[in-house]
Amino acid sequence: MFIRGYNSIISMDALYKIDSDLSSERVEDGFQALWTKREAWTTLETSLGAVARCKNFEASTPSEDQPGEDEEPPQLWPQSGAITFHDITASYTGDGENVLGGITLSVAAGEKMGICGCSGSGKSSLLLTLLRLLDTSSGFIEIAGVDLATVPRQTIRSQLTALPQEAITVPGSLRKNLDPLNMSSETAMCAALKGVGLLTLIDERGGLDVPMGEVSLSQGQMQLFAVARALLRKSKVLVLDEVSASVDAQSEELMTRLISSEFRDGMVIAVAHRLSTIVSFDRVVVMDKGQIVEVGPPQELLQKDGGWFREMWSREGH
Ligand SMILES: Nc1ncnc2c1ncn2[C@@H]1O[C@H](COP(=O)(O)OP(=O)(O)OP(=O)(O)O)[C@@H](O)[C@H]1O
Ligand SMILES: [Mg+2]
Repeated sequence: MFIRGYNSIISMDALYKIDSDLSSERVEDGFQALWTKREAWTTLETSLGAVARCKNFEASTPSEDQPGEDEEPPQLWPQSGAITFHDITASYTGDGENVLGGITLSVAAGEKMGICGCSGSGKSSLLLTLLRLLDTSSGFIEIAGVDLATVPRQTIRSQLTALPQEAITVPGSLRKNLDPLNMSSETAMCAALKGVGLLTLIDERGGLDVPMGEVSLSQGQMQLFAVARALLRKSKVLVLDEVSASVDAQSEELMTRLISSEFRDGMVIAVAHRLSTIVSFDRVVVMDKGQIVEVGPPQELLQKDGGWFREMWSREGH
C-alpha cells in the first residue's frame, strides 16, 4: 500500500525496483528476526527443561546417607587407629546372594595389607564396603573406634584416599586435577610430581595450567599422576584396587616403591594385580568366594605347604 501511494510520481521500472528491494529486504529482515526469535525460544525451552529435570532429579533422588549416619567424628579422625571389619556380609541387591560372607579382619594403623584372590572372590567389594559404596547387610566396620554406620558417607570418603584401577580425570587444568580442593601450595604440587617422576615431562608440556586433556599422559603416567594426587592429600589411609594392572613393569615398580616410601607411616590396603607388589607388605589376605581363606605375613605364607598364597605365587611363575 505504501508503494502504491507513490504510483503516479515514479516510473513503473523504478517502482518495481523499489518495490522488490524493499519488500524482499523487509521479508528477509522479518524472516531473520523471526528465525532468531525462534532459536532463542527453543534454547530457552531446552534450558528450562534441563533446569526442571535437574530440579526433579534433586527432589526425587533420596539422599545416599541413611538415618543415623550423621555424627561427625573427632576432629583429627582417623589420625591413627585400626580398621576393623566385624563379621560383615554384603550383597549388591537387597535379597541377592551375599558377595561377602562373614569377613572379620583388623588392619593396624600404619600396616601395609595386601589383598589377593581369584577374579570374583570379593576383593573390590570389600574395599567398597570401606568406602560405603556397598552397604553391609550385617556386621559393622570401625575406623579408629568409630562405627562407619554412624558417620556421613562423604566424611568417610574425605578421610580415605582411594585409587581405582583406571585413573580418573575431570575437565580443567592439570593443577585442578592434581589438587581438586585447592589445598596445596605450588611447591608441594611440584614436589609430588617430582616424587613420581613426572615434573620434567609436565614442565615440558606447558606446566600446571595446561588443560588436562592436552597433556597426553600414557596410562602408566596417569596412574603415577594419581599417586602424586594421593601424596598431596596426606591421608592416613590409602586404598588401592589393582592400580598397577594397566601399567608397564617399570611404572609398577616405581609405584610400589613410592607407596611404601611415601606412605611409610600410613595404612595401605591394596588389592594386588601381581603378587610381587604385595609380597613385601606386612600381611596379605587371600579371598575366595567372598570369604577370607588365608591371612598372614607373606613370607610365612610362602613357607606353608598347600597354602593358598604359596599356590598363587607359584602359579604366577615365581
Ligand atoms: N555392581 C555389581 N552388581 C552385582 N554384582 C556384582 C557387582 N560387582 C561385583 N559383583 C559380583 O560380586 C562378586 C564379587 O565381585 P568383586 O568385583 O568384588 O570381585 P573381585 O575379587 O574384585 O574380582 P576381580 O579380580 O575380577 O576384580 C562377583 O560375583 C561379582 O560378579
Ligand atoms: Mg576387583
